[in-house]
Amino acid sequence: MTKHQTLYTCQSCGGVHSKWAGQCPACGQWNTLVQESFSAPPGGLKAEPAKLSRMNKLQFETLDSRDEIPARMVTGIDEFDRVCGGGVVPGSAILIAGDPGVGKSTLLLQVAANAASRNLRVGYISGEEAVEQIRGRAARMGLSKAPVDLAAETSLRTILEALKREKFDLVIIDSIQTLWSDAIEAAQGSVSQVRACAGELVRLAKKHGTSVIMVGHVTKEGQIAGPRVVEHMVDAVLSFEGERGYPFRILRGTKNRFGATDEIGVFEMGDAGLREVPNPSALFLGDGHERASGSAVFAGIEGSRPVLVEMQALVAPSAYGTPRRAVVGWDSGRLAMILAVLESRCGVGFGQKDVYLNVAGGLRINEPAADLCAALALVSALTDTPLPRDCVVFGEISLSGDVRTVSRSEGRLKEAAKLGFNSAITAPAAIDNPPVKVRGFASLAEAIGALFPVGE
Ligand code: TYD
Ligand code: MG
Repeated sequence: MTKHQTLYTCQSCGGVHSKWAGQCPACGQWNTLVQESFSAPPGGLKAEPAKLSRMNKLQFETLDSRDEIPARMVTGIDEFDRVCGGGVVPGSAILIAGDPGVGKSTLLLQVAANAASRNLRVGYISGEEAVEQIRGRAARMGLSKAPVDLAAETSLRTILEALKREKFDLVIIDSIQTLWSDAIEAAQGSVSQVRACAGELVRLAKKHGTSVIMVGHVTKEGQIAGPRVVEHMVDAVLSFEGERGYPFRILRGTKNRFGATDEIGVFEMGDAGLREVPNPSALFLGDGHERASGSAVFAGIEGSRPVLVEMQALVAPSAYGTPRRAVVGWDSGRLAMILAVLESRCGVGFGQKDVYLNVAGGLRINEPAADLCAALALVSALTDTPLPRDCVVFGEISLSGDVRTVSRSEGRLKEAAKLGFNSAITAPAAIDNPPVKVRGFASLAEAIGALFPVGE
């Protein structure tokens, strides 16, 4: 039996191969195979039988002595708790992924401080900053009184020992890429190290009922560095996003074993850390209700909340043979479809014109319900005709050019009424007794005919 085996791990897909190759046989990426050694465990291959436990009996060792197990640990940062599904489940592992500098450490320090102030035992372990730096940051954010236990440490073994002894309710690891395990001969931050360290932490979380939140930096390609291996191990993956130049940050659940994944939490980065934005509509609407041509307000739904957001279109003569189609915050395939429907079903052509579509505030819209809003913003830009003031738009458009009713119309209309809008353009017969005046159109052509000067 070989005690020491050399294998090659792809740094992109995590595939393990016995021979080196220039191209990974599994994912096809070039120059990603790295030699790594795996040692057999010191005790040989013998094993203890797995410990079985009845479903109706409590598992967590550290929680055994408590009278009552909280179903969720509420941290008090509402935007964070909601994305988690109503608080952090004890013993769960959560990965927070995001670009370097987006504000992950800031968010988690606030989460840690808030949770600690609510009588939870919280540890914050950083491999990126010294304890004094974390203290300084906390002081700037007005959190220095919170009883959070800080440590600057990168050795997995040392961290695990501390966690076993301290019996935390919640532990923050910032970041998983800075940890290293001495059981593996691979460089810090490599796939094998990240996988091994995350695996050990998740195991500890389950065993002791300690919730672990790990920070993961994403690579340029948008993947979590040391590919997606960690995503499979954890219970929830939350991505923290923000557009450069905007103060808004959006926490989005991309995987959650204990809650819905379509929730978003909205924050605003300021001098004293992240501020929660409980009513995001006001933030995505741009300035006032004065609408220029090319602008339309979409009444959308993000997770459980209705959100109003401004969509802006610009149409300009193209200087090149192939006109440009650029879109920020929406799907470019969807834009191509809407342009095709406008051209062939409504006789509105964008031929040799550049088309730009932008969602204000750095939000990303995934709903097909935004079709009608995008289409009307485009026609408004093309004809240089503003849409009616104080009006929201929503509805899905089919390839035949029909406007379809979308789900949760009532919530969308209520949000519009709450924010001072007084009419809505959508499919006919959305709901009875709408809170604002509804103008229903069965087809896109009909809507365009009623709203814009046609026949150019
Ligand atoms: P950070 O949380 O360190 O990002 P990450 O952990 O995701 O790498 O946030 C860094 C950025 O946030 C940095 O550009 C400074 C900014 N920031 C503020 O604007 N206000 C603040 O109060 C703090 C703490 C950071
Ligand atoms: Mg950080």
